[in-house]
Amino acid sequence: MDTRKVAIFDTTLRDGEQSPGCSMKLHDKLLVAGNLEALKVDVIEAGFAIASPGDFESVQAIANQVKTCTVASLARALKGDIDQAWAAVKGAALPRIHTFLATSPVHMQYKLRMSPEQVLQQAVSMVKYARNLCPEVQFSLEDYTRTEEEFSWKVIEAVIAAGAAVVNLPDTVGYAIPEEFGARIRRVMEHVPNVGNATIAVHCHNDLGLAVANTLAALRAGAGQAECTVNGIGERAGNAALEEIVMALRTRHDFFENLECGVDTTKIMSTSRCVCSVTGSRVQNNKAIVGQNAFAHESGIHQHGMLANRQTYEIMTPESIGLTQSQMVLGKHSGKHALKDRLAQLGITLSEDRLAELFTRFKDLADAKKVVTDADIEALARGLEMRPDAQQKVVFDRFLAATGNTNANVSTVRLKVDGQTVEEVAMGSGPIEASFNAINKMLNLHVTIENFSVSAVTANVDAQGECDLRVRHNQRVYLGRGVAQDIIEAAIRAYVHALNGLLEDEQRMTVNAATLAAASAGTGLV
Ligand code: KIV
Ligand code: ZN
Repeated sequence: MDTRKVAIFDTTLRDGEQSPGCSMKLHDKLLVAGNLEALKVDVIEAGFAIASPGDFESVQAIANQVKTCTVASLARALKGDIDQAWAAVKGAALPRIHTFLATSPVHMQYKLRMSPEQVLQQAVSMVKYARNLCPEVQFSLEDYTRTEEEFSWKVIEAVIAAGAAVVNLPDTVGYAIPEEFGARIRRVMEHVPNVGNATIAVHCHNDLGLAVANTLAALRAGAGQAECTVNGIGERAGNAALEEIVMALRTRHDFFENLECGVDTTKIMSTSRCVCSVTGSRVQNNKAIVGQNAFAHESGIHQHGMLANRQTYEIMTPESIGLTQSQMVLGKHSGKHALKDRLAQLGITLSEDRLAELFTRFKDLADAKKVVTDADIEALARGLEMRPDAQQKVVFDRFLAATGNTNANVSTVRLKVDGQTVEEVAMGSGPIEASFNAINKMLNLHVTIENFSVSAVTANVDAQGECDLRVRHNQRVYLGRGVAQDIIEAAIRAYVHALNGLLEDEQRMTVNAATLAAASAGTGLV
């Protein structure tokens, strides 16, 4: 039987980013796009260009950076959206406009207030409009799984005739059941006369926990493109997880006989880690493929079987997703080279500056702990700011906290702000709050802190503490992460990390306002 290639369309940067708390900054998005390119996905949906100037900027930057994957921008089926999408992706080696319109009765009646005939006409005219700008156009029938089937066939046929190269049939609300969804896709293949002129795609949400199962059923039934996100992040319960689809196709190649995708599975783990790191949302320990326990064997019976023959309990190897077993223990005598090697095995690549910074923190940790584990190294890398200290406005230097359960908590924090050393002391209900109050005094900031959490990186009493938090200011949310052996220091580092994001944004907004003022002065506009 001939093999059939399935395209992997990654929407981590668009649908994934829409999930609460998963917003990413430009340099984070570029980092994720770089990982997706190394993973060899076919399409990167870089964002929704019309959504905001920031979204436009990041879609454009990704389009200019990525060389080997198609780069798509989402657009509603409206001329203005399509123009913006095209402006953002036209610099890409392989650009695509992805436009969509809802086709289910409930969406057409209550959201769009359009009749089915108007929807059909709008879909066709916007596909033609997009096609005049961009060589490759994808059209999505939003809420396809609640769309009346015969109407969906009419729309699919019409948009293919109008020039859509890909027609996506999303399970927008995560409503489908695998057998039913597979059967619907099979009927599309049978009833749409020109279906052979386009690729049928599916895009499944996980509200019933069936997104991956539905995607696989659709692929078997004839769909040629699977839309998914790394770690399954996305609106509500998320999207179909890329790593689960890809590893199911590979591990059960016998069942999915003729289906193949071009993903380099050994890059799965590093891409998953990168997405965790930039979104600040970790995957649950028992998450399939990329969870911390996905390849761990705890029970005696399992360990015995594994020792006798790994295949007793292992259907995929950890190496196949890029997880390597480290033989060498790292400690205080280990050099920079050994650390660099271990980072490479863990799929973490750092510039020389970042490596030097990480090495200093590694040495401090190795002085305090005999053995530095892979989890410690990963946490240290996660705790590094994306940019070196030298490029940060605020750099943490030291703190001294007086704490106890009988007296007030006081903390003195020393920072470098724009290279100048500043120090403040403040009180708080605990040493962390006291430290944050001292920082607020120095920076004259009033922010709200959300989702504050501190956890231990390993299970021992000498474990490092990892702090994640979110800072809200003027409707914007900034992610902070810090790692240190002392949990107060971890919290301070996380807070400073988030505040640097905020200050960078404010500076950008001031510059933008100044540029606008200069521009309008030049044109005589007020
Ligand atoms: O879930 C959905 O329907 C979407 C479309 C815009 C493709 O994300
Ligand atoms: Zn979606």
